[in-house]
Amino acid sequence: MPRVLIVGGGGREHAIIRALLRSPQAPELICAPGNAGIAADAEVVAIAADDVAGLVELARQREVDLVVAGPEAPLVAGLADALLEAGIPCFGPLRDAARLEGSKAYSKEVMVAAGVPTAAYAEVRTVEDGLAAITSYPTVIKADGLAAGKGVVIAADQSEARAALEAFLVERVHGGDLVVVEEFLEGDELSLLAVCDGERAIPLAPARDFKRIGDGDSGPNTGGMGAFSPVAGFDLDQAKRFAAEIHEPVLRELARRGTPFCGVLYAGLMIGPDGYKVLEFNVRFGDPETQAVLPRLRSDLYELMLAATRPGGLAGVELEWDSRASVAVVLASAGYPESSSSGDLISGLDTLPEGVEAIHAGTAFDDQGSVVTAGGRVLALAALGDRIGDARRAAYAGVESVQFDGRQYRNDIAAVAAQEEH
Ligand code: AMP
Ligand code: GLY
Repeated sequence: MPRVLIVGGGGREHAIIRALLRSPQAPELICAPGNAGIAADAEVVAIAADDVAGLVELARQREVDLVVAGPEAPLVAGLADALLEAGIPCFGPLRDAARLEGSKAYSKEVMVAAGVPTAAYAEVRTVEDGLAAITSYPTVIKADGLAAGKGVVIAADQSEARAALEAFLVERVHGGDLVVVEEFLEGDELSLLAVCDGERAIPLAPARDFKRIGDGDSGPNTGGMGAFSPVAGFDLDQAKRFAAEIHEPVLRELARRGTPFCGVLYAGLMIGPDGYKVLEFNVRFGDPETQAVLPRLRSDLYELMLAATRPGGLAGVELEWDSRASVAVVLASAGYPESSSSGDLISGLDTLPEGVEAIHAGTAFDDQGSVVTAGGRVLALAALGDRIGDARRAAYAGVESVQFDGRQYRNDIAAVAAQEEH
């Protein structure tokens, strides 16, 4: 029986684990650090996701056949490099390729070199240069380094732009000394993830996520409050065309630079009236897109990930998808996204409506062994249905049954998509 170590403890990792459990190869699953829900599906080990040395030691001791990196931080910190040295296959890119997410400026440079459509931009190091680079408002100001979704400001006018530039370049709230000032794009966003083996990109089913905390896209950005798949107008053939136009040129450019990319390459697209542009790349599965996309995957995820760790290993791979629709609705704790609340008792997990899955993120056990909140995004209720509207009704029935103090969620996840089905 193969043994897999999954690194991380969020909803994305729980969804990956649920999909790996469906593999005919019945892999034995270890997760570090995991959460209360993952503890029911895998062996959890209390090693933090950014403890590269501890993770490599665990992988070595337990003789795992594959390590799956969930979040970006350990990849940017060199987890895949350390595993390569230890001779352990890792699904996730080496540090140099992970810069695609770790540095907005590097990501733009690679997009331009690869000929991928992206918003016009300037790279600046001072507030004055930043203001001088802005040609119209609103404008987009991005801190260069990793910022957990908080490094992007849409500035409506000059005073907001100045405040963002000062925060990023003078106070250095995200540590860096470089900012990308970018043209503001309008349209609908699309998350297009592809599994990559250094040469080939096999696209996953397209998804849409909901970044703002409030209904109607109001309030501040979050890690993501819900997702759905498929997205009307973007079928699997279109996903293949995108992968050939976006992901594969980027893979060639990275290989040319001597940093081939293995793992999930996530392209965040803005689809406008005149076509699409790439907003960003991530070097890992999306959260919560994964909670909506992987329940639709019929192919063996273990085999797919293992194949991706071998150069050219994805040749001839065709993925099979459940034709049903999938919706995931995130429940967040009080205070999110500015803060979060821990230790609130979660009820209703044992009495979920049939067909609804609770995919855990920020959950833990208290001293009595009860499941409590332990972070901003607490869990997602996910369901499949013949159409988006059916999946949505089922997921929201799950939302009704899971309670905790201060629970926040959006009422409009996949609402427009469900309406447009009629
Ligand atoms: P990023 O981390 O670069 O994806 O940015 C986070 C979010 O900010 C995106 O998902 C978009 O909602 C928004 N965003 C980023 N860049 C732009 C842009 N050029 N125009 C409009 N919105 C953007
Ligand atoms: N859902 C957005 C992300 O994973 O970055």
